[in-house]
Amino acid sequence: MSNLVLENVSYVYRNAETAAVKNASCEFENGSFYAIIGPSGSGKSTMLSMLAGLDLPTSGDIKFQGESLNEMDLDRYRRESITMIFQAFHLFPLMTVTENVCYPMELCGMHTKKAKERAKPLLESVGISEEKHGRFPANLSGGEQQRVAIARALATGAKTVLADEPTGNLDAANTVNVIEILRALAHEKDYCVIVVTHDPEVSDMADVVYRMKDGVLTRER
Ligand SMILES: Nc1ncnc2c1ncn2[C@@H]1O[C@H](COP(=O)(O)OP(=O)(O)OP(=O)(O)O)[C@@H](O)[C@H]1O
Ligand SMILES: [Mg+2]
Repeated sequence: MSNLVLENVSYVYRNAETAAVKNASCEFENGSFYAIIGPSGSGKSTMLSMLAGLDLPTSGDIKFQGESLNEMDLDRYRRESITMIFQAFHLFPLMTVTENVCYPMELCGMHTKKAKERAKPLLESVGISEEKHGRFPANLSGGEQQRVAIARALATGAKTVLADEPTGNLDAANTVNVIEILRALAHEKDYCVIVVTHDPEVSDMADVVYRMKDGVLTRER
């Protein structure tokens, strides 16, 4: 079964004259790394926010592992089933690296001690060495901050990763590094990774590329 399925999904913003997403149908499987490309304003973020359960389609249906998002507890879906990574890393500035990664686990009810035990190997898996775990985000480079954001996104174990321009603030070397991490999650750990991007370097590394144009989604390759 596909992890996420869109069936004739449209989204119209309140007061808008045309739909931001028009009749999109597609499937996203575990084990693959997807890119969604397309010009500014074409509907990429709108599509991602529906996949994230932040907005329900105006018409059509999105199914997660066979169940319609319309019928699910969306707070729980967002907390437990999916995870998001943003361009602006949204790390909590007054929390240390470790505390940032522990936060979503504690939100799911895990004790601090256990969360810390889990945070350590997660951070090491994205190349953040132990000496940096006690630092505040401001004292890391941009690429390091984004890798901490990825570790935090992986903390709950949710295997559907949705990322909106996750490399938008990074240089070429860090972009490749971050995409390698996301791609390895898909290929080695069976994650479903969906990345919205303007960057051809990112989409070149994807298994499947979808293109958005004026709200219309087509499969590019
Ligand atoms: N809250 C909103 N209310 C009304 N219209 C919106 C809202 N958010 C986005 N839109 C419109 O919906 C369309 C799609 O926007 P969306 O943010 O999905 O584009 P995008 O492809 O992510 O663009 P970018 O690459 O610039 O991030 C645009 O025409 C935009 O102006
Ligand atoms: Mg966008």
